[in-house]
Amino acid sequence: MKLGPRAPREFHSRVTRLSEQLSLGVAIPAAGSGTRMGGRRKAFVTLGGIPLLRHALGPFLEHPSVQSVVVALAPEDADDPPTWLRNLDPRLRVVPGGETRLHSVQAALEALEPTVTWVLVHDAARPLVTRDIIDRCVEAVEHGEGVVAGWPVADTLKEVGVDRRVVASPDRSRLWSAQTPQVFPRQQLTEAYRQAVQDGASVTDDAEVYCRWGGTVRMVKGSPWNLKVTYSEDLAVAEHLRAWVHELKCGG
Ligand code: CTP
Ligand code: MG
Repeated sequence: MKLGPRAPREFHSRVTRLSEQLSLGVAIPAAGSGTRMGGRRKAFVTLGGIPLLRHALGPFLEHPSVQSVVVALAPEDADDPPTWLRNLDPRLRVVPGGETRLHSVQAALEALEPTVTWVLVHDAARPLVTRDIIDRCVEAVEHGEGVVAGWPVADTLKEVGVDRRVVASPDRSRLWSAQTPQVFPRQQLTEAYRQAVQDGASVTDDAEVYCRWGGTVRMVKGSPWNLKVTYSEDLAVAEHLRAWVHELKCGG
């Protein structure tokens, strides 16, 4: 299988056939306050003149098997969403998010159409997600298991103590960094989230919510370019990557 924007057409057709049987929903947490970016609400920060949230939604809305999309926005934005978002797609709903990502994802999950059987969770802060990444996740689903897009860690890792003294050098060969999208059976993930919220768990990742509930999760290759915009500087990197991926797609 080829990574990047040029996976063969047959791959997408096969995944489309599979995902048609799955009834896909999408939950997009977009209610964060962007503290590490100086308090800018990242969902509406623009990349090439287009909001990050719009970039992040694109490949999901273009996916023929996606039936329902719920975006969790900061409550003040959810009360009065921008016109472009309101008019974007009839499958899309907006709900108020919560204090933490955990609460925002839960709000989105609870608002998905009842017919949805599998849900993709994707951060609005990852604007460079592609159809290939989505399809690699969907292709890997198996009964009851979750699937997480990720990438093997390239750097040598060090665990440090409070004074930054190195206390361990974990074996890198078994370590991946987790990205989104992540895919789960809808009902089980909803239960896992209810449990985590009830327990007051402090988790920022869907796979962790699913595992602490007792679920099993597998990693598939996302992309090293599926960057999460966290700091203002990441925007410049994302812009370059976007232009580069676009060039590749166009055969440049
Ligand atoms: N998120 C959310 N609700 C929250 C917190 C985060 O929906 N209460 C979403 C963000 O909008 C983002 C994703 O979760 O799409 C990943 O969060 P992160 O990158 O940490 O974004 P922020 O929380 O906005 O940033 P920061 O942690 O710097 O405040
Ligand atoms: Mg955050």
